[in-house]
Amino acid sequence: MDEPTQYEARLRSEELRSLINYHNHRYYVLDSPEVSDAEYDELMNELRGLEGRFPELITPDSPTQRTGAAPLETFAVVEHRVPLLSLSNCFSEDDLRAWHRRAAERAGHEDFSLTTEPKVDGLAMALVYENGRFVQGATRGDGQHGENVTANLRTIPSIPHTLEGTVPARFEVRGEVYMSRSGFERMNAAIGEMNEEREREGKRPHPLYANPRNAAAGSVRQKDPAVTAARPLAIFIYQLGWVEGGPTPTSHHETLAWLGAMGLPVNPDARVHPSLGDAIQRIHWWGQERDRLDYDIDGAVVKVDDTRAWEELGAVGREPRWATAFKFPPQQRTTRLLAIEVNVGRTGVLTPFAVLEPVVVGGARVQMATLHNEQDIRRKGLRAGDMVIVQRAGEVIPQVVAPVTSLRNGSEQEWSMPNRCPSCGTPVQRDPAEVAVYCPNSGCPAQRVRLLEHFASRGAMDIEGLGEGLAETLVEHGLVRTPADLYRLTYDQLLGLPRKPKAGANVSSRVVRLRKRSVSRLLASIDGSKQQTLAKLLFALGIRHVGHETAAVLAHELGSLPALLGCTYESLLNVEGVGPVVARSITDWVARDENRRMISDLLETGINPNGGSSGSRDGLLAGLSVVVTGRLETMSRNGFETRIQEAGGRVGNTVTKTTSFVVIGADPGTKLARAQALGVPTIDESTLLSLLSGRVDAGELLLGLQRS
Ligand code: IVH
Repeated sequence: MDEPTQYEARLRSEELRSLINYHNHRYYVLDSPEVSDAEYDELMNELRGLEGRFPELITPDSPTQRTGAAPLETFAVVEHRVPLLSLSNCFSEDDLRAWHRRAAERAGHEDFSLTTEPKVDGLAMALVYENGRFVQGATRGDGQHGENVTANLRTIPSIPHTLEGTVPARFEVRGEVYMSRSGFERMNAAIGEMNEEREREGKRPHPLYANPRNAAAGSVRQKDPAVTAARPLAIFIYQLGWVEGGPTPTSHHETLAWLGAMGLPVNPDARVHPSLGDAIQRIHWWGQERDRLDYDIDGAVVKVDDTRAWEELGAVGREPRWATAFKFPPQQRTTRLLAIEVNVGRTGVLTPFAVLEPVVVGGARVQMATLHNEQDIRRKGLRAGDMVIVQRAGEVIPQVVAPVTSLRNGSEQEWSMPNRCPSCGTPVQRDPAEVAVYCPNSGCPAQRVRLLEHFASRGAMDIEGLGEGLAETLVEHGLVRTPADLYRLTYDQLLGLPRKPKAGANVSSRVVRLRKRSVSRLLASIDGSKQQTLAKLLFALGIRHVGHETAAVLAHELGSLPALLGCTYESLLNVEGVGPVVARSITDWVARDENRRMISDLLETGINPNGGSSGSRDGLLAGLSVVVTGRLETMSRNGFETRIQEAGGRVGNTVTKTTSFVVIGADPGTKLARAQALGVPTIDESTLLSLLSGRVDAGELLLGLQRS
């Protein structure tokens, strides 16, 4: 854009101020934001830019000069003795270096220590303690005035009511109240269930919370403290506000240690760094750790460790020069839900998905997201054409969280599941016991394509080069009906076949044709897949409810592919880990003529693995059932699980009394507690490595590990 005139800048800055004030109100007061943090930041940055170029346009009440909206009237107002400041933002290493340079210039030297802590995504609180007793808790509000939410904060387990040790006469600490991710999921699931009941009773559903931050804010602001008490809230204290009758430590890390010693919850992962480079490394660590944490963080906070320098460094507006926030890419954005379409899965289940106006979330471009099922859409109240909040955390598939209902203009369309399969037109069936809707036609082209993709996928038969695009072509050209047909494909049939672009790829992507080299490679890979283990083959068949784990158990039991045809419901129920639903699904599958024919076709093409390595009865871990939990150092959990299976062991997902032992990595979660409760032996990663290498004998080890 050309440089605006002063007049244009004034109009735009007025517009931006009113927009930002509106969003502040939605965020801070109503706990119901309409735009993502990143979009809000964009508005703020634009306003800051304009005010930077035209300082005469800055008004005292400009949002750039404030930190939030005025408090709700429901709670008594608390005047903060020392205002709660905000933080400047850095979006790159360059921004951070520039912040460091500015601080160094003011300080007169650049070799000062820094601290890093997570920027927990919750809401700021100021807690006052008198003679070691918690007497007042207030929200940040506009930084000068907050809301008195003492009664609600008293219900949060991690806020101590009394402190330990030598405590100042009166002092205030600041921290972030947040809701754990797992707690948030449980709470939203409970609201969802309640809504289903409300729906049956013809009542309006309660809105779901968009994210843990909103849920925390909504929970702290409840009029009834009993409601707050039922919400899974916690706090991390990150700052000292003011102190009467006590010491003021001369460094931030000492402050945190001191607060911790009094019993206040400080983040255990805060660190001191001798240099900026060291701090940057830690920030990258936080960026990676972010998805593993059970609480949301939107960045890392970097502070000058020497608190004596803070006053001298001062602030710019409401942002101190001695601290800054390094922001990570946002994991939620708002975008338009262009349409709701339906995908037909390999077992015929119809799954709706969202076609979105492309948006970058968590650093990746998102233009499609699963919507799970009809109920999910209804529970969230989504309509085609809505502006929606989209979320993506780490590698997790993007999700549509909620619609922004206030932005509706009446053109949005309610959605319902089609009555006919979008691929073959067969009337769909609803399974009353499950939420799923199916296409019952096993000859449905979409199902054939999906089954083929699954059959060829990694973890199944692992046929390289046979992805979504080619599977569709093979079915469309009538070359493949069932996976067994793959083994009859010839060079001439394949040469020159078009490979369609992946769904969701750019529309302008060109159709690529199979050339000589890809055909030879594909045929070699198809041939090579004949050597896959029985467990992988059973998984590859795509029988409903037969995942990796069940396939491995079955392979162990059956020992060969033809044995699958002889399975009965009763015999399957005797197999460990196979319940009535899985047994029924397998027998239904086996009963179908086309499936029996496929098995005999597979056998005819020479595929007949025996129990295979994963079903091996004489490996190092033969007969043992192992559960792996937590983060492992030397290889991924998947990698270990494959090694265990190769050694003849069975890998389980849940710890039961029959689990032989549980391998415990870092941050193991509830499986460790369950193992201890059931008296199942636990071993560490290095012991597992010793077992896998044969250095330690599993039998002897288990004799040594007492089962309580
Ligand atoms: S220090 C002047 N440390 O981020 C410095 N803030 O964008 C005051 N926040 O209002 C804040 N984790 O609500 C600090 N470890 C942390 C934080 C943190 C989260 C929040 C806090 C603050 C906002 C500023």
